[in-house]
Amino acid sequence: MIQLQPASQAPSVLLERPQDAALADALIERAFGPGRLTKSSERVREFAEFAPDLSLCAWRGEALVGVVRQWRVRVGATPAVFLGPIAVAADERSGGVGALLVEQACAAARAAGETAIVLVGDAPYFGRFGFSAALGKAVRLPGPVDQRRVLGVAFTPAGEALEGMIRAL
Ligand SMILES: CC(C)(COP(=O)(O)OP(=O)(O)OC[C@H]1O[C@@H](n2cnc3c(N)ncnc32)[C@H](O)[C@@H]1OP(=O)(O)O)[C@@H](O)C(=O)NCCC(=O)NCCS
Repeated sequence: MIQLQPASQAPSVLLERPQDAALADALIERAFGPGRLTKSSERVREFAEFAPDLSLCAWRGEALVGVVRQWRVRVGATPAVFLGPIAVAADERSGGVGALLVEQACAAARAAGETAIVLVGDAPYFGRFGFSAALGKAVRLPGPVDQRRVLGVAFTPAGEALEGMIRAL
C-alpha cells in the first residue's frame, strides 16, 4: 500500500553528507539548468571552501526535496559565508521548504560564529529572512553581477561593514 505523507508536514533537515552530493547536484541541475554554470556565483564557488557544517538537505523519507549549500570566503579582509545554490523540488515549492532551509542555514552560520552571509539572489524572496542589498552594496564579485541582487545578512559588527572583493579564505 502506498502511504501518502501530508504535504504540510515539514521535511527533515540534515547536514549534507558526501553521499548526498550526487542527488543534491541533480536537484540543483533540474532547478537551474546548465546556464547556472556561467554565473558569477559559480566563479566564487570555484575557489570558495565548501562548508559541510553549514550546508543542508531537506528529506521527505528517502526523497531529497531541497538543498542549500554554503561556502567560506573572505569579503575584502573579513571572513564571511557565501550562500548558494538553494533549490527546492518543483512539486514541493511554496510549501515552506525554502524558508526552512534559509532559516536553518542562517542559524547554523550564526551559531558557528560567522560574521555574515552573502548571496546573489532575489531581494523579494530573501528579504523576509533579513537579507538586504544595503549590506551587499560594497561587496564585489569576480565577474558581472546585478549589484541589486548582491544581498547580505550580518551576525556581528564586522559583518555589518562588508566591503571588497569576494576571494578565497
Ligand atoms: C526559490 C526557491 C528555493 C524557494 O523555495 P520554496 O520552498 O518554494 O520557498 P517557500 O515555500 O519558503 O516560499 C515560497 C514563496 O516565495 C516566493 N518566491 C519563490 N521564489 C521567489 C523569487 N525568486 N522572488 C520572489 N519570491 C519568490 C513564491 O512565490 C512563494 O510565494 P507564495 O507562497 O505566495 O506562493 C524555489 O522556488 C526554487 O528552487 N526555485 C528554483 C531555483 C532558484 O531560483 N533558486 C534561487 C532563487 S534566488
